[in-house]
Amino acid sequence: MKKQFRAIMFGPPGAGKGTQSKVISDWLQIPHISTGAILRQEMADSTEMGKLAQEFVNKGELVPDKVLIGMMKTSLDTSKCPHGWILDGFPRTLPQAQFLDTLLTDLDQEVNVALFLNVSTSLVVERLLKRADLEGRADDNEETIRNRLSVYEHQTLPVLKYYGEKGVLITVDGSRSLDEVTNDVKEAFEKAPPPL
Ligand code: AP5
Ligand code: MG
Repeated sequence: MKKQFRAIMFGPPGAGKGTQSKVISDWLQIPHISTGAILRQEMADSTEMGKLAQEFVNKGELVPDKVLIGMMKTSLDTSKCPHGWILDGFPRTLPQAQFLDTLLTDLDQEVNVALFLNVSTSLVVERLLKRADLEGRADDNEETIRNRLSVYEHQTLPVLKYYGEKGVLITVDGSRSLDEVTNDVKEAFEKAPPPL
């Protein structure tokens, strides 16, 4: 049977979560679920959720937990993800992490890899300002980037400890070249314990 992965890509804004998740998603043939990308699509389509999320995303604040939890109930439907998934940008608060655990317990499943891309603040700011010129994401301006980093530090970092205590956390130095980081990320996945 194909090995299953239920994995979280964790790290500050600009750490490379999206970049590495795409590579791993292709490699392992599991869906890459990015909450930021889903929200940006909802905003572009001007849906109810998109309109609600817009002011939070554009200021670099977190969208309320209840919106994200509703979104993930749909996205993690196991019939669509029989071999698992890689989550990028979720969970970002302790209530989101606890929700995920409750959902998985009901399914007799658990997260088996939480991969932390460790990158310094100065380097992520540099990367995001560079991306601003290329992609024009509304939240890639200096003021919003600083706020995203502060939100990460205060609201999201506790999630790192949460997975550390569960014994599934693996830290990779995300400050090196894309290929070097990918090699370490793949190695971490190869060594990960099998999921429930
Ligand atoms: P989200 O879209 O998740 O943004 P983020 O966490 O701020 O992270 P980024 O997407 O900016 O960076 P990344 O780590 O994916 O790095 P990337 O691979 O792009 O969330 C956006 C917003 O949505 C949030 O602020 C919030 O409002 C809302 N939201 C989302 N999830 C939520 C949740 N769960 N709860 C509440 N609200 C939520 O790389 C960055 C750049 O660096 C790219 O240009 C890339 O090409 C480059 N790069 C990557 N790796 C390397 C490398 N090794 N060397 C050189 N350059 C590199
Ligand atoms: Mg991203």
